[in-house]
Amino acid sequence: MSRTIRLAVIPGDGIGQEVVAEGLKVLRAALPTDTKLETTEYDLGARLYHRTGETLPDAVLEELKGQDAILLGAIGDPSVPSGVLERGLLLKLRFAFDHHINLRPGKLFPNVKSPLAGDPQIDFVVVREGTEGPYVGNGGTLRTGTPQEVATEVSLNTAFGIERVVRDAYRRAQARPRKKLTLVHKNNVLVHAGHLWTRIFEQVGREFPEVTTDYLHVDAATIFFVTQPERFDVIVTDNLFGDILTDLAAAVTGGIGLAASGNINPSGDFPSMFEPVHGSAPDIAGQGKADPTATVLSVAMLLEHLGYAVEAAAVEAAVAADLTERTGTRSTSEVGDALAARVSG
Ligand code: NAI
Ligand code: MG
Repeated sequence: MSRTIRLAVIPGDGIGQEVVAEGLKVLRAALPTDTKLETTEYDLGARLYHRTGETLPDAVLEELKGQDAILLGAIGDPSVPSGVLERGLLLKLRFAFDHHINLRPGKLFPNVKSPLAGDPQIDFVVVREGTEGPYVGNGGTLRTGTPQEVATEVSLNTAFGIERVVRDAYRRAQARPRKKLTLVHKNNVLVHAGHLWTRIFEQVGREFPEVTTDYLHVDAATIFFVTQPERFDVIVTDNLFGDILTDLAAAVTGGIGLAASGNINPSGDFPSMFEPVHGSAPDIAGQGKADPTATVLSVAMLLEHLGYAVEAAAVEAAVAADLTERTGTRSTSEVGDALAARVSG
């Protein structure tokens, strides 16, 4: 059956431009010949902001709704005040499209050096809640700029929001060989949100008798990420804890150049968005030094999400093979070419 994928491409700033070009190369190589890829590129990020002051124009948001998925490079530039593009573009998209599942695999590929001693076997996935917690912008300041300044940043947690991410995490655990799910929170101190998360985790767990469960406080989880990463299979956690833990996950699995992510709306009501975890890396932008592998692995997640499981596995296998044989330094496009060749080969 022939099919068309409408893909919105937001290369963004800095190395975002460079890595997205390679991601698209590999995506084109991976798709079956009866699938047509229709890309629409959106110039969002620092350039648009400087030109018009806008971060995500309403007309663009409307157009994006009609796409099947979004591939994003990275957003951010030293010339734009911190927070403007993050809140005005990235977070706005995640909230507008109800990307409540933020998926970040932590996998140590063969031949990739982990800063951890020994030869750890790391293969887990963090399911981070994407639309609640302290990231909702529920806060404010009072007496700003005075010694009596007050600032609040309220963490919002709903039973509905927790239940849907927890159920998604159980399903993912159920589908994996080890069938293990760890809840990470801080329910001994953040008792209000923590008890709600814990109760719902236990309730939903009754529907998944085959899944083994575990609970860790977030501080303990950071220790085990380093001392015993093998113990994790699927992890479910709130928006802030997940943000921090997944950067640590990227560090122990060979670095930010390999870390992929998906902002997923499982209902399909809105397009899901796939992006490398890293930022725009202004320090190496424009030099062809960026590793496009994180973007290519994000493309694999995109394929999986759109129902191309075989093609997704082929892209991941290409990355694994490329990493195994990797020697010397290659440019961004040389890595992209090599991966695309393996996928088509
Ligand atoms: P960063 O991830 O851009 O860079 C951190 C370090 O990792 C830099 O030394 C960089 O050269 C290196 N690096 C990152 N990606 C790499 C790759 N693919 N290959 C090789 N080396 C790589 O984080 P940083 O420097 O904190 O932020 C730079 C800008 O990116 C900021 O404006 C920040 O707000 C933005 N940012 C955007 C994100 C997004 O669009 N989702 C996520 C994180 C940061
Ligand atoms: Mg982060």
